[in-house]
Amino acid sequence: MRLILLGAPGVGKGTQATLISKALSIPHVSTGDMFRYHISNNTDLGMKAKQYIEKGMLVPDEITVGMVADRLKQEDCQNGFVLDGFPRTIQQAIFLDKILKDLNIQLDMVINITLDDRNIISRLSGRRICPRCNAVYHIEDKPPKNDGVCDNCNAKLIQREDDKEETIIRRLQVYHSQSEPILEYYKNKVKIVNIESHKLIEVTTKRVFDALGVDYKMLNIC
Ligand code: AP5
Repeated sequence: MRLILLGAPGVGKGTQATLISKALSIPHVSTGDMFRYHISNNTDLGMKAKQYIEKGMLVPDEITVGMVADRLKQEDCQNGFVLDGFPRTIQQAIFLDKILKDLNIQLDMVINITLDDRNIISRLSGRRICPRCNAVYHIEDKPPKNDGVCDNCNAKLIQREDDKEETIIRRLQVYHSQSEPILEYYKNKVKIVNIESHKLIEVTTKRVFDALGVDYKMLNIC
């Protein structure tokens, strides 16, 4: 299965992509996680990306598309992937078409998760992430078992630099102007399923897996 998860910052793309990846045994390809990996390892790419991410702006296409092309050519992506955070501009969508054509593969589905901006701001303000294994928590909606500590690897949870309210508002503006038009681009090209994000993560997960035709409760992944 080759999937794209679209949606504004904070709608829950990463949360759902992690579950899809486990359920279908396909890699979760998140450009945000890739940039954060480069930033924490002080690579040249990371240093370039950091200045854009901290301001809530998109990293320029010339940095982003090469990184994604390299990732999708790797062996583990040959039987499928779930793309999270890419494409984010029409230019990136056109570039992705080219990569997939070169690899002789096609997309199966675009899942577009929706949520209003007010709820997004409250979700992102309460998000905490694990800097070691990328697990995502929320202080109220998905708290870790032990306060401030990752359930998977015991690392101390942190708040993302770009989850400050003024940066969240900038990211939402960028999403509405540059990323939302991608939906129109995919219309008539690939199956698009719109899913409204629910207050309960499990309800959203059920909607996503219903769209995929998979009974996730049988998979014991949550
Ligand atoms: P990226 O990391 O991709 O951030 P994003 O798209 O802004 O999305 P988020 O990770 O903020 O949110 P999400 O939708 O994954 O939600 P999550 O599951 O965490 O990108 C970061 C930056 O990198 C960008 O701003 C840009 O600068 C750069 N970048 C990345 N890709 C790029 C590209 N292609 N081109 C150029 N630049 C690029 O959930 C959010 C919170 O809500 C969590 O706390 C979670 O626990 C909670 N939650 C999730 N679902 C629910 C639910 N149903 N109910 C209640 N709470 C929920």
